[in-house]
Amino acid sequence: MEKRRFGRSGLDLPVIGLGTWLTLDLAPGDEPRAARVVDAALSTGARVVDSSPMYGRAEGVLGRALGERRGEAFVATKIWTPSASEARRQLEAQLGWFAGRVDLEQVHNLVAWEERLDWLEGEREAGHVRLLGATHYQASAFGELERVMWTGRIDAIQVPYNPLQREVEERILPLAAELNLGVIAMRPLGGEGALMPGPNPKELEPLGVVKWAQALLKWALSDPRVHLVIPATSNPDHVRDNAAGGTPPWFEPAERELVQELAAR
Ligand SMILES: NC(=O)c1ccc[n+]([C@@H]2O[C@H](COP(=O)([O-])OP(=O)(O)OC[C@H]3O[C@@H](n4cnc5c(N)ncnc54)[C@H](OP(=O)(O)O)[C@@H]3O)[C@@H](O)[C@H]2O)c1
Repeated sequence: MEKRRFGRSGLDLPVIGLGTWLTLDLAPGDEPRAARVVDAALSTGARVVDSSPMYGRAEGVLGRALGERRGEAFVATKIWTPSASEARRQLEAQLGWFAGRVDLEQVHNLVAWEERLDWLEGEREAGHVRLLGATHYQASAFGELERVMWTGRIDAIQVPYNPLQREVEERILPLAAELNLGVIAMRPLGGEGALMPGPNPKELEPLGVVKWAQALLKWALSDPRVHLVIPATSNPDHVRDNAAGGTPPWFEPAERELVQELAAR
């Protein structure tokens, strides 16, 4: 799997990661399934895992699924609250689940971002978090996201990017490249798999892939301003299919257009 330099962090991270929205919000009895998914991801080299306090039980399930393999993973998660005391509680819980460190702590939906960054910068100095980021899922918030990017206080952004959600191409991706920020593309399969199952294998032949998920992941990664994609799945076979989308060759413009046409049908 290809690795890309994650903006100014200087870290080389594999281009395929693992989202956890819905898929890892599991009841205790279902946690063995999470362990199989996370094991499969780490075994393919997909070591960036993304979660949030917004995702129900997912953070704790992820932490337990990582278990002794925590050191192999790069844990990206989020702080999501207007309350300073709740923010501290969220981080404390994360430090418990993720062996005392969050690799990328993102301000979820930009909630109280100035206040959260003031505090998180201290937590970074204390060694509890490594990189800082910001995320939003709505294009209407991208103006505010730009303001956060310009502060120079964050290392990375997480934004939606798939053939039917391309608003970031206008200003966010160019600015991220200019400021040398890491870019995580969320909702790469349309958000909750909205673009699945997609066209039949015959129609994928010109793209040199066998699975539609691979075409979508390659579509996002063929923009060099994107560093990694985080498809979510509850299925270890899908983890392996997705990992195969993380290897060159990347799509030429005509191939990207074909994916866009197929996605729009
Ligand atoms: N910061 C934010 O505001 C925000 C918002 C949304 C999402 N996110 C992050 O981005 C991640 C991804 O977004 P998402 O979960 O909304 O959507 P997504 O990754 O675009 O789609 C996930 C869905 O695709 C299916 N899928 C995955 N791989 C597949 C494959 N190879 N073949 C067929 N189906 C496949 C999964 O079902 P199966 O379980 O059946 O595989 C799942 O239902 C989230 O989990 C979360 O970590 C962040």
